[in-house]
Amino acid sequence: MFLASRFVAGKTAQDAIAAARRVNSQGMNAILDYLGEDVKSAEQAQKAVEEYIALLGLIHESGVRAAISIKVSQMGILISRELCVGHLERIGKEAARLGLFIWFDMEGSGLTQKTIEVFTALRENYQDIGLCLQAYLVRTGGDFDLLMRNPFTVRLCKGAYKEPPNIAYAAKAAVEGNFRMLAQKALQQAGRGVYPAFATHDLIEYIRDLVREKSISLDHFEFQMLYGIQNQKLAALAKDGYRTSVYVPYGSHWFPYFVRRLRERKENLYFLVRNVFKS
Ligand code: FDA
Repeated sequence: MFLASRFVAGKTAQDAIAAARRVNSQGMNAILDYLGEDVKSAEQAQKAVEEYIALLGLIHESGVRAAISIKVSQMGILISRELCVGHLERIGKEAARLGLFIWFDMEGSGLTQKTIEVFTALRENYQDIGLCLQAYLVRTGGDFDLLMRNPFTVRLCKGAYKEPPNIAYAAKAAVEGNFRMLAQKALQQAGRGVYPAFATHDLIEYIRDLVREKSISLDHFEFQMLYGIQNQKLAALAKDGYRTSVYVPYGSHWFPYFVRRLRERKENLYFLVRNVFKS
């Protein structure tokens, strides 16, 4: 776990609440994620649901400013869609009762369509939910337009999974180009049912320029960054009056999340190797 501690707040929900408190004290909101994915047993999915129900209670009791983020593969979509939707209904009901927000993470492309469908089904009953879309996927522009028929809260990110070149842009410039295009579209509708969250440590100046140019209210969108990555830069944005959230993962199943963070930046691998040899 010590290797992942730069990116993961700790093992328990209490650790995540403590991290949320630190983040809040710097003017930022938190998004708490109980680590876990690709769940193949109903017991494991049930355990994740109970954890999220308890987490919602803790957020409410502690008074921290925090939302939660879930993954459909942790909620049992690989077992059955009904099971997954049932679990999400339960979490949705509890979050609505406590006035808390739920983000849907976007996983590998094998789950894109299913995640969109489950999100769309949940939207019929719950308002305070948002969906992550990935700029590296060629399909995302079309998904965005379809989803926009009923304006929604969207988290735009570049995308963190290994995807084949026939469905995903490989070149950094192409991913960024698509991100910019999606950001423009989302900001055009910001404040009119669409609330965009820009989940990136990059392209911040681009978005700030766009917002200034179009005179968009700072209440109509937000910036989001990952725990342990450029959080001081995000705190500075919060100080400048921007809405901001830090995505705070916690739990014991940190390995796949950690590997995605290592892949994003080769310097992280050098850091890892140095620490492994030091210990
Ligand atoms: P880029 O990778 O170009 O990074 C820009 C700069 O940020 C780098 O130069 C470096 O300084 C710093 N940086 C970025 N990653 C780093 C790392 N791992 N370690 C150290 N420094 C790093 N993806 C997904 O597929 N599904 C999802 O649901 C989400 N959810 C999500 C939520 C939030 C709040 C964020 C911020 C990101 C995600 N992502 C995600 C991850 C996202 O797709 C992407 O992989 C990372 O944000 C890195 O991309 P950037 O846009 O930051 O650009």
